[in-house]
Amino acid sequence: MTRDILVTGGAGFIGANFVLDWLRKDGADGIINVDKLTYAGNRKTLASLKGDARHIFSQTDICDRAALDKLFAAHKPRAVVHFAAESHVDRSIHGPGEFIQTNIVGTFTLLEAARAYWGGLDDVGKAAFRFLHVSTDEVFGSLGPNDPHFSETTGYQPNSPYSASKAASDHLVRAYYHTYGLPVLTTNCSNNYGPYHFPEKLIPLMINNALAGKPLPVYGDGLNVRDWLYVSDHCAAIREVLARGRLGETYNVGGWNEKTNLDVVHTLCDLLDELRPKAASSHRDQITFVKDRPGHDRRYAIDARKLERELGWKPAETFETGLRKTVQWYLDNQAWVEDVMSGDYRNWLTKQYAA
Ligand code: NAD
Ligand code: TYD
Repeated sequence: MTRDILVTGGAGFIGANFVLDWLRKDGADGIINVDKLTYAGNRKTLASLKGDARHIFSQTDICDRAALDKLFAAHKPRAVVHFAAESHVDRSIHGPGEFIQTNIVGTFTLLEAARAYWGGLDDVGKAAFRFLHVSTDEVFGSLGPNDPHFSETTGYQPNSPYSASKAASDHLVRAYYHTYGLPVLTTNCSNNYGPYHFPEKLIPLMINNALAGKPLPVYGDGLNVRDWLYVSDHCAAIREVLARGRLGETYNVGGWNEKTNLDVVHTLCDLLDELRPKAASSHRDQITFVKDRPGHDRRYAIDARKLERELGWKPAETFETGLRKTVQWYLDNQAWVEDVMSGDYRNWLTKQYAA
């Protein structure tokens, strides 16, 4: 076994932030980055790693067992950090099939490949190996206004094909610990935001539309609540859980930042009014209320006290500092955004927002 770790989905939003943060540290262990490069994966995000021998990229589907076996045999990683997934709720409503395939069949295939590799390690290697599964708070379903935050013991009640497929993958990971003893860890995180966020998601979509003078499409009454976490705080939490988490345990990760969607969009507009003012009006004037998402969860809120108590993790960014950094990043990185706004993404915008 080497010191390298195998990361799946490392060309996507959170995976790429994780890879970049990890390798920023001098002497960091190497990364085998396994990504299919779907519409959401982008090698340009990893451009700064060109020539860095610690980063090996493999364009591979996690549903391809033979390819995974080869990667495990060639690189002998000490851990897997599993980000790869179909991740957008609205896309899961239009086409759930890919979500079942990647999130459930893909996670199963990766678990099987990891189990076979782990089974062949010596006792020291077996004890040191980790399989960390990155999941979401959406598996817990929707909270009422006065319900307590989601804790690690909250029951699963997923409401979208996305969250149902992630819930299934969480259950498989758990089962591999109890049935086969595979040393697994699971994190369930709230909504992330930050650099390299694909512009189909709320925050980058609103920044892009605001800058382009387009409507800002708020679903329903805009009072759905999400609990926002800056992406590098999520990456730090994953590093802590990987290093010191208790085997078989799940850890909730969240920023204690419950906001309505309307609050988020207002704050974004105000930041843009300050950083990129329009001649005679506010970006708020672009807000438009549109048809609600079917099965739209009303409120998510994470109780992250277990992670703080056991591993000492706390978010470094507040919502205000993180959102300001994010808006500034999008202003400074319009070339990245333009690159992502390919023909394919334009087709999605037409399908989702044309009405
Ligand atoms: P993303 O959609 O930005 O990136 C997903 C990445 O996985 C892409 O690079 C894509 O090419 C890759 N991928 C997709 N299918 C694949 C396959 N079959 N084989 C190999 N690679 C494949 O997603 P994200 O927002 O970075 O989310 C990463 C993980 O974190 C997901 O598991 C998601 O459920 C979880 N999560 C996300 C959030 C959030 O707010 N974005 C919050 C909590 C948890
Ligand atoms: P999203 O970024 O898709 O994350 P998730 O659904 O996984 O929480 O959406 C965040 C919230 O923003 C969610 O309540 C749906 C809402 N939303 C809009 O109001 N308009 C939009 O165009 C999008 C993409 C999302």
